[in-house]
Amino acid sequence: MTELAGRMGQHPRPTHVIVHLSDLHLLSGGQLLFGAVDTEGQLQRALEQLETSGIRPDAIVVSGDITDRGEPDAYRRARRAVDATANRLGAPVVWVMGNHDKREVFHTELLDQPADREPVDGVIEVNGLRIISLDSSVPGFHHGELKPAQLEFLARTLRSPARFGTIIAMHHPPVPTPVAVLDILELADQHLFADTIKNTDVRAILAGHVHYTTAGNCAGIPVFVAGATSYTMDLSAPVDELHGIDGGQSFSLVHVHDDQVVHSAVPLGNFRQVSGIGADFLASMRNLNADGRRDAFSRMPTDDQGEDDVAPSEDAPSDDAPSEDAPSDDAPSEDGPSDESAPSE
Ligand SMILES: [Fe+2]
Ligand SMILES: [Fe+2]
Repeated sequence: MTELAGRMGQHPRPTHVIVHLSDLHLLSGGQLLFGAVDTEGQLQRALEQLETSGIRPDAIVVSGDITDRGEPDAYRRARRAVDATANRLGAPVVWVMGNHDKREVFHTELLDQPADREPVDGVIEVNGLRIISLDSSVPGFHHGELKPAQLEFLARTLRSPARFGTIIAMHHPPVPTPVAVLDILELADQHLFADTIKNTDVRAILAGHVHYTTAGNCAGIPVFVAGATSYTMDLSAPVDELHGIDGGQSFSLVHVHDDQVVHSAVPLGNFRQVSGIGADFLASMRNLNADGRRDAFSRMPTDDQGEDDVAPSEDAPSDDAPSEDAPSDDAPSEDGPSDESAPSE
């Protein structure tokens, strides 16, 4: 986490930072998804942006659909890329099963375990924060479900609270989707999951699957959905259509504070910087008290001052780095499972 974050306002620094990637949809041999989207390149871009930011996460959560078709080589590519960054940052990786993943291959290629068809659930604890991963996939289908045995495992695990509480990572988000046809592919029996996490130390649920950034709650607990690194479901498409677009990809940052969890999306792309401030200015803030900081950074310009005379107000300064909004394309508008035709997220 950056040195200054959370230290000049009323909130203390976060206790933990989690990087949340989702829906990588890699293909073997680095093939383009739908013949159009460089999903491996998009993943690499996300990891490069993360590394150059200087953020030092406590964990990296990848919330499912690691691959598009469950191919071993696609898993190896995903693992090679994510592990390289994770190793450099010293962060453990939590791999979560999605509907496009295949349990047997997931076990062998990502977890170094024997092939197994049982759900891939797990628990790790990072600096006192527990992360439980749940496999909401249903072999042969794209909707989600948690088996009774998984809910029992969850309830049993949650019986003893963790020092900083629990974050659950799962692919299918337990919140409504505004996209009509996508609700066919939602997590079934969400009330059973809600009953299981109610009155426990669960502080947030991280999910993916829908390919757009969204948030809601389940049993009063925040649910944060990361957008996909692969392609985005366009919520501005005609309401009775489903449009997957090669643009708007993102990953998210999860800041865990003592009293709340904050989820923030990071757009993928090498965009032109048009405003901002540099590290020197931020460093100078350290030498000021609260009033001084407000004078230097919050105070609006007076009538006889030009905008240029005052500190920038939080949008960043200048620069003319190349923009690079991913071009839209006419690739299939759905995340077809293997056949590229059915909408599946
Ligand atoms: Fe999915
Ligand atoms: Fe997906």
